[in-house]
Amino acid sequence: VSQPTAIVPPATGRLGAPAAGPIASVAWDRGAAVIIDQRQLPDTLVLRRLSAVEDVVEAIRTLAVRGAPAIGIAGAYGVVMGLLAAGDVSRASALAELDRLVSRIGTARPTAVNLAVAVDRVALAVRGTRGDARDMAAAALVEARAIHDQDRASCEAIGRAGLELLGGARRLLTHCNTGRLATGGDGTALAIVYAAHAAGRLEEVLVDETRPLLQGARLTAWELAQAEIPHRVLVDGAAGLAMARGMVDAVLVGCDRVAADGDTANKVGTYGLAVLAARHGLPFYVAGPLTSFDAATPDGDGIVVEERAADEVRAFGGTSTTPPGAPVWNPAFDVTPAELITAFVTDAGVLRPPYGPAIAAAIEDAGRG
Ligand code: MRU
Repeated sequence: VSQPTAIVPPATGRLGAPAAGPIASVAWDRGAAVIIDQRQLPDTLVLRRLSAVEDVVEAIRTLAVRGAPAIGIAGAYGVVMGLLAAGDVSRASALAELDRLVSRIGTARPTAVNLAVAVDRVALAVRGTRGDARDMAAAALVEARAIHDQDRASCEAIGRAGLELLGGARRLLTHCNTGRLATGGDGTALAIVYAAHAAGRLEEVLVDETRPLLQGARLTAWELAQAEIPHRVLVDGAAGLAMARGMVDAVLVGCDRVAADGDTANKVGTYGLAVLAARHGLPFYVAGPLTSFDAATPDGDGIVVEERAADEVRAFGGTSTTPPGAPVWNPAFDVTPAELITAFVTDAGVLRPPYGPAIAAAIEDAGRG
């Protein structure tokens, strides 16, 4: 990945004063995507300028940029960069390059459907233009910006719908990072947290550390600290005790791909939380935009679960966490059966069971709108 463009050093033990405005996981800047390098949080806030397709693919693969909507946005900008780099070629060459870009960027990570959806959407807009290669790149940028803007609006809608759904639930448990770092706006599950905090209706967020890459401990805790939202980090294995002790009113998680029947892929550990929530009679809410719903996959069995490198489990930050070379299985996601999900909070409102018809109707309405 390209060189860092800006490093904001830690000032007062954590990352200095909370950011003046909301942080932006991805921003388009004169031909490049500027991302927060999430691999370096919480120690250092590094902005990285991705100006080549290779940079974008690498950033997505290595989780420098991560979270289903954020990788969709970054991928969309990646297509723009690829077309810009192709230069003033013939329309036929630009279309051939577009096909290569779609497959290279769209497959950088397999589970979050947002990536393929965003890249396909940009490609469709490009194919629909009549002009030359320059017009095609311009059309790609318009569409990528629209994807970015729409995700910001989706986050707002999710926050509003989720706040209403929460009712009197003031102590929330969440997993992974589903906030400003993971999206183009305030987040999915965390958008609801931000909304509840702004409304004075939040007591505390319990943040699962989220093994093995610690998106909860490193990223969610950082984001919540920036926003001065009360929270505590717990190891993943402590969630059951927290529920048994009555410390949790509701569980809120995001999603990477929701199948047509409501079965949901999300960060590994989500399924266990859903089982625990059911055991303790707690609501288990999944938040995400309709861009995370995949009507073409009938149920969870059809979802490809990304398996990542064994070394992510064997060591962290240069320190071994297993004996050298220990055999490892490292699925990055798991699939929660729809029956364990109390409701989905989407940008098209709250969806309740039976999910098959509810999801189909929401997708159809969105297509009409
Ligand atoms: O591997 P990651 O960190 O990209 O996984 C992210 C998640 O599982 C999130 O919960 C999901 O993308 C929803 S974020 C809005």
